Amino acid sequence: MDKINTEVLSPDRQGISRAAALLDQGSLIALPTETVYGLGADAANDTAVAGIYAAKGRPSFNPLIVHLPDLARVQELVEWSDLAQKAADAFWPGPLTLVLPLKPDAPISKLVTAGLNTLAVRIPAAPIACDLLRSFGRGIAAPSANTSGKISPTCAAHVIHDLSGKIAGVIDGGACDVGLESTILGLAGTPTLLRPGGITKESLAQALDCRIAERHSTEAISAPGQIRSHYAPSARMRLNATEWADGEARLGFGDVECDLNLSPTEDLIEAAANLFAFMHSLDASGAKTIAVSPIPHDGLGVAINDRLSRAAADR
Ligand code: TXA
Ligand code: MG
Repeated sequence: MDKINTEVLSPDRQGISRAAALLDQGSLIALPTETVYGLGADAANDTAVAGIYAAKGRPSFNPLIVHLPDLARVQELVEWSDLAQKAADAFWPGPLTLVLPLKPDAPISKLVTAGLNTLAVRIPAAPIACDLLRSFGRGIAAPSANTSGKISPTCAAHVIHDLSGKIAGVIDGGACDVGLESTILGLAGTPTLLRPGGITKESLAQALDCRIAERHSTEAISAPGQIRSHYAPSARMRLNATEWADGEARLGFGDVECDLNLSPTEDLIEAAANLFAFMHSLDASGAKTIAVSPIPHDGLGVAINDRLSRAAADR
């Protein structure tokens, strides 16, 4: 990746509107929330979201949390419920993330959900995050603003140290209050604590007036095929295809003849941005097999190959 100039923005009107303009152009902006600094991108923009994975050097496409300014915006994206309302009444704005069924035509990049049919949403409480969300006006997808495997950043200096040259800007809002990521509550099925955080399971159970299940670490999200809702095509996947067989749907990469090309110019960010949408679309064609060109195993290619081999194994 070419080095870019990382702007350090002040959390005033000027800095916020500059950050919103950069997000609008598809650039990445690190922003302070009450939990940790997030690495934000326009949640509707495939290329921008692919940029998050590239900047973080994430080896796989973990689904991301979408941050929103208010309940009306949340309800445009997910199927709302009584339990969700109780959780929101008790803990929003604040360090709680809810996983809910994604509305079918919600304008959210498939890279944000990693192809799942659920979406993680959160209304943060930190004033600077709220100002930016209101100014931008749409959902901001944001994982913690650190290189994959490193510690989550709780001040702008951490972000600059780690990601300077890879992102368009960081809003310097001082230290985060909580310093620990949000609690994640799954409400797409049985209420389940998906990640512990500052809000305890007990206080969730009390506010929702129901039992909260726990996901045990043995049911790791990373294991292939473990998460039923994880998008697996009904077609068989044939990877590293250097020639095509009759009747296969052909998912190409580079200078090849095919049905859909992830990136004719071998640009891995473009390929990541297209991956889930193209898999869906070839699967919908009814082909029994989707054959995929070899994808290089460097940069974002590692995450692309990870996702492809899971799709191939998910049976
Ligand atoms: O406090 C936070 O939550 C921070 C700030 C920036 O908001 N964000 C954060 O994001 O911690 P990240 O990407 O580091 O962690 C997101 C977690 C991941 O463990 C992911 O697996 C889970 O959220 N997640 C996201 N969408 C999900 C979904 N649809 N189903 C289950 N888990 C989901
Ligand atoms: Mg993280």
